[in-house]
Amino acid sequence: MREAQTEIVRGEDEAGIRRAGQILRDGGLVVFPTETVYGLGADALKDSAVRGIYAAKGRPSDNPLIVHIAGMEELPKLWQEVPSKLEELARRFWPGPMTVIGKKSRLVGDVVSGGLDTVAVRMPSHPVAKALIQAAGTPIAAPSANRSGFPSPTCFAHALADMEGRVEMIIDGGDCAYGVESTVLTLAQSPPRLLRPGAVTPEQLREVLTDLVIDPAVLEQLEEGQQAASPGMKYRHYAPKAHVVLVEGTPEQYQAFLEGRRGEAKAFALCFAEEAAALPLPNVSYGGREDGLGQARELFACLRRLDELGAGTVYAHCPDRAGVGLAVYNRLIRAAGFEVIRL
Ligand code: TXA
Ligand code: MG
Repeated sequence: MREAQTEIVRGEDEAGIRRAGQILRDGGLVVFPTETVYGLGADALKDSAVRGIYAAKGRPSDNPLIVHIAGMEELPKLWQEVPSKLEELARRFWPGPMTVIGKKSRLVGDVVSGGLDTVAVRMPSHPVAKALIQAAGTPIAAPSANRSGFPSPTCFAHALADMEGRVEMIIDGGDCAYGVESTVLTLAQSPPRLLRPGAVTPEQLREVLTDLVIDPAVLEQLEEGQQAASPGMKYRHYAPKAHVVLVEGTPEQYQAFLEGRRGEAKAFALCFAEEAAALPLPNVSYGGREDGLGQARELFACLRRLDELGAGTVYAHCPDRAGVGLAVYNRLIRAAGFEVIRL
């Protein structure tokens, strides 16, 4: 593992952002806030710099990265062609929590694309992310700034805990607005395909892409030997140290199920805010039952808190899958290694 002296700067520190841009131009690593989660950035067009990302995260080299841009003029440099639907998608959802995959140009190296002939691009809306890309003067490759396999950092403290000593700089931008990673879809194949749900929902995307299909890996575990459309889908993910089990049922069923677990050593509930007070197990709540956006914002921090509390087994109440709920469900079922109890 590389070791680095990590400088901490605040998002409002303009001189600090300029130094961050210089670090990136010099091939170094900078952790920065986005509206989804914190990112671990390097100059996307410099293979040697991008290799540093994989090393700092402990990430398998066949799992490709997202390239972050500050303006539409960057896109034709990164893609062989810009599909006609992109314009309408960008008009509605960029800058924001949407990532689109296209056929990559020759400018994009094999390290950033994990050896694929496509590359994922996103234009973030967070002012610090935008200022950083502009200061660097180059597109920034950035995965979530967690160590590989762990929940993504949604606040400065979590980014610091995972990346201090591994990067040249961490920029403190407070808490992330969405708390789950961007929606990922591909236009490099027909029909277009949703690979990872996020705050931009399938319902919203279908207003532009009427033929959008949802990749089976969004909801289900891939069978042994099946190829993942998105390499990230095949790895155990978002997982705390605790053993997470997803429990599907009404509030009454969930409550009754937990009664049967009363007294179980190190057992915790991950529940909705409304249920917390009445449950027979120690618990952490991750937002209101009907509040998908709130659940998304809280989820990863809750998983980390459960580890801090020493949870052994976590019985997580399954969220509704509509709208942003699909993203919450997708992350939780991976955290649970697809272990579901249906009541
Ligand atoms: O919100 C986000 O997207 C955050 C912030 C920092 O922008 N980034 C992020 O990156 O979540 P990462 O690397 O943690 O997740 C990217 C996902 C992975 O599952 C990866 O396999 C998939 O996108 N991906 C990237 N490029 C791809 C490609 N060319 N084809 C298929 N999947 C791709
Ligand atoms: Mg990630």
